Amino acid sequence: MPVAAGRIVLGIESSCDETGAGIVSRGRLLAHAVASSMDEHARFGGVVPEIAARAHLHAFTPVVRQALDQAGLRLSDIDAVAVTTGPGLSGALQVGLAGAKALAYAIDAPLYGVHHLAGHVAADTLEHGPLPDPCVVLIVSGGHTSLLLVRDLARDPITHLGDTLDDAAGECFDKVARVFGLPYPGGPAIDRAARGGDPRAVAFPRPLTGRTEDPYAFSFSGLKTAAARWAEGHRGRELPVADGAASLQEAIADVLTRTALAACRDHGVGTLVVVGGVAANSRVRALAEERCAAAGVRLRVPPMTLCTDNGAMIAAVGDLLVRAGAEPAPLDVSIDPSAPLEYAALTPGAAAATAA
Ligand code: KG4
Ligand code: ZN
Repeated sequence: MPVAAGRIVLGIESSCDETGAGIVSRGRLLAHAVASSMDEHARFGGVVPEIAARAHLHAFTPVVRQALDQAGLRLSDIDAVAVTTGPGLSGALQVGLAGAKALAYAIDAPLYGVHHLAGHVAADTLEHGPLPDPCVVLIVSGGHTSLLLVRDLARDPITHLGDTLDDAAGECFDKVARVFGLPYPGGPAIDRAARGGDPRAVAFPRPLTGRTEDPYAFSFSGLKTAAARWAEGHRGRELPVADGAASLQEAIADVLTRTALAACRDHGVGTLVVVGGVAANSRVRALAEERCAAAGVRLRVPPMTLCTDNGAMIAAVGDLLVRAGAEPAPLDVSIDPSAPLEYAALTPGAAAATAA
């Protein structure tokens, strides 16, 4: 495959249970490979940090090699390395950062520290091209639920319109699935179980919708408790899991899309981008499509494989930073497991340089 000379960015992701390597050049996805340790965590009902870190150590080199082979490139063809430096599991992040540093040092390429959630946002550019300025972005993952006003992702600060006050949407899916006796990860399991259920069977609450104060905030812990109570109420009888799953999914999809569209309307923004693992949910996608069409808002959702964690999304941010002339990270850069989302680049120097 002919590749524009220079500016080939390798992205590394290792913040949770997926080891991802992706290669992007000038907004174009050249290759990406992902290894998941999800099956190793399933019997514990959630990600075990030590197991995840060890799995990253095993998968790092094969996954990078696989991405390079797919693109028909050698390591020496890479011009820059981007890596998730936060937020995420500390041990998992450290394995990815150590590997990325070693690669960058070996080929004498600049290194960029990337915010994981900015990666989720940038994932969509690989399929649908540059993001319009401004756009509203709904990030819904296992650890985060945020509504953002995004301008130039590589240069401008990211404005948080609303965040979750407690659990993330994905966390709610995962925890309720456990109570319903469904396997980990809970989101896809609830999505599958919901296919045979009635979304109106259980009147689960729609927390925080229609408020005037902090109008774009989310809260999912009450919904989680309501679902657990509903399941408890069936003790001794068979639980109608399909109905419970469909009703829970409907409540989450309703709250997410209603709030996101209110933000688009209130800020006069014509594009909504929905990203993160929960953007893979069939009802979230369908309801977002329905409501965006009715409101005349353009909807962008990355393809399924780019919704969940991967290295291509980190390479996409790295590619934007390289093209924006951002300052690379020093080789002594560290991880930040609870980094707030302020800039796409997680290196203070890079953020300052691009903001200037
Ligand atoms: O973005 P992601 O891969 O990892 C994080 O950065 O957290 O998101 C993982 C989350 C998990 O909570 C998982 O249950 C959820 O995304 N998820 C889904 C679906 N696929 C993944 N939730 C609902 N429906 C799905 N189809
Ligand atoms: Zn993620």
